[in-house]
Amino acid sequence: MGEWVKVSAPATISNIGPGFDIFGMALQEPFDIIEARKIDSGVRITGVSGPGSDTIPCDSKLNSVGIAAEEVLRRTEADFGIELRIKKGIRPCSGIGSSGASAAGGAYAAHLLTGEKLTERELVLCAAHAEDVTSGGFHADNVAPCIMGGFTMIRSYEPFEVVSIEPPKDLGVVVAMPDVLVATKESRRVLPHNVSVKDLVFHVGNASCMAYAMTVGDIDLIGRSAQDSVFEPARTHLVPYLKEAEKVAMGLGAKASFLGGSGPCVISFFNKRETDGKAIADGIVGLYKEKGMRCDSWITAWGKGCRKV
Ligand code: HSE
Repeated sequence: MGEWVKVSAPATISNIGPGFDIFGMALQEPFDIIEARKIDSGVRITGVSGPGSDTIPCDSKLNSVGIAAEEVLRRTEADFGIELRIKKGIRPCSGIGSSGASAAGGAYAAHLLTGEKLTERELVLCAAHAEDVTSGGFHADNVAPCIMGGFTMIRSYEPFEVVSIEPPKDLGVVVAMPDVLVATKESRRVLPHNVSVKDLVFHVGNASCMAYAMTVGDIDLIGRSAQDSVFEPARTHLVPYLKEAEKVAMGLGAKASFLGGSGPCVISFFNKRETDGKAIADGIVGLYKEKGMRCDSWITAWGKGCRKV
């Protein structure tokens, strides 16, 4: 048995308005911890703890940590196996990349044990393979920022090309997680298969300005560009009081407020030079309390990708 390595894998926001399956951003909090060590052969998961862990399979063929680690072993032609322990900090079915963090953390931990032979791009693909198996669709907009950090943009899936940039340092993020579970698989089933030219034009305009605003650090323009006329409208019914929560956040100084990934998290951006984000977090939590629902919140910021801790 080898030494344990320990990796932190951050929560991520995906879609971010117009960038369905394209935009992603790593957060500082919350995060999963994945521990891994070499064993003679196979991939074994010997511990899963933390919020929602009772719903996470320990069978390594069904678990995103195990699937991603196995893919790294396969690509590197490793002659050993891996034992994994998972400590969830990100509840499953949250909309902030819970399975993506596990997949990326599993891939990264295996990468460390196999002598760091893969490129970042290959690691993202190993983790995206696990997302495909567990979430019902090949998408890398959570695993890319989880591995690369910052704000990521997937230019193309085939061939796969992704870039990462540093968002503005004053961009703050409130994550509000109402007590409802939304499985990505289900949330993808309600999406339309076709979009109109009008929606396409709207998304390209907003996505272009989002990329520009992230690059030059224009937080007001980031806020105005976080618009989605196709995917969030199709999913709004899955998240109770989503539109009310967004409205509360905007009234309390948020620059944008939108559905995180496939939901149910409500994400709000703010400018740290103008507010500390507490009123926004308290406002959304208060709204859900009034409606008789629990809502957890984090006041955080964009962060780096997976790392050894
Ligand atoms: N882009 C994906 C979706 C992210 O919205 O379905 C899910 O985690």
